[in-house]
Amino acid sequence: MSKTIFITGASTGLGKATAVLFAQKGWKVIATMRKPEDAGELSQLGGVSVLPLDVTDPEQISSTVAKALELADVDVLFNNAGYGLAGPFEGATDEQLVRQLDTNLLGVMRVTQAFLPHFRMRQSGLIVTTTSIGGLVAFPFNSVYHATKWALEGWSESLAFELAPFGIGVKTVSPGGIKTDFAGRSLVLTQHAAYATELQKAMSRFSDPQRTQQASTAEQIAKVVWEAVTDGQQQLRYVAGRDAQDLYAQRQQVGVEAFRKGIQQAFLGDPTGEK
Ligand SMILES: NC(=O)c1ccc[n+]([C@@H]2O[C@H](COP(=O)([O-])OP(=O)(O)OC[C@H]3O[C@@H](n4cnc5c(N)ncnc54)[C@H](OP(=O)(O)O)[C@@H]3O)[C@@H](O)[C@H]2O)c1
Repeated sequence: MSKTIFITGASTGLGKATAVLFAQKGWKVIATMRKPEDAGELSQLGGVSVLPLDVTDPEQISSTVAKALELADVDVLFNNAGYGLAGPFEGATDEQLVRQLDTNLLGVMRVTQAFLPHFRMRQSGLIVTTTSIGGLVAFPFNSVYHATKWALEGWSESLAFELAPFGIGVKTVSPGGIKTDFAGRSLVLTQHAAYATELQKAMSRFSDPQRTQQASTAEQIAKVVWEAVTDGQQQLRYVAGRDAQDLYAQRQQVGVEAFRKGIQQAFLGDPTGEK
């Protein structure tokens, strides 16, 4: 019998690529998104059901998860919906802070809670969450995004212990750059004039073609999601994409403090002004 994956944020990018890949592999896919009317080719794919879900709406989480469980015996929850908030922390409005945490962190927690009775009852299930290499290392001017993704890494690591006795697995996929809408229409920027010079330095590093060329395609990262779901391993963390693997290996190798100095140099130069 075919298995079923429930995906959040499946309208574009990694969520969509993962939906397509699992459908091609013969899985049933419940692709959820804020605007199901924009599902496009996904709604034409065999085995794919599209349902509405804004992960910041607790009532819709309840109704959509209930509907999904009527449609299929869901095996895998893929928490993928999320977006970036970048820019000076001091300039972030309260609305921006709340929305970032609500979407990237509380949304994942609430959707997961909605599935737990189902997974516990059947004594099996897998929860895979898209974090980021930004959940394992930090760059300047992304502090709130990092707060959500580091939180998801810690939350997942802890949750894995308490769900294992019920046969429920927990994994994270931590991608580096992915060529999606993330850095375009999905990105929200904070403003604060006092940080303009430093921000400019960091932004030119972020948009350096040498750096952006290393980004993976959504299809490449979807393959890592496939591996995490199907490899039968107890492994928690899947660092995805060459850029992310290089960065993570560097941090492990040189240690946190030396790694931080490297990031400082690369993005902002020497804080003392000496070059
Ligand atoms: N791209 C990267 O460089 C990168 C790197 C590391 C990690 N990630 C992570 O990868 C995940 C997918 O991002 P992506 O790269 O595929 O970017 P994307 O193309 O912008 O996709 C983001 C998805 O999240 C959805 N979303 C945003 N807020 C939502 C909400 N409140 N409820 C439900 N869905 C919501 C978007 O839906 P709408 O279409 O309705 O806006 C869209 O489907 C995110 O968690 C992101 O943090 C991305």
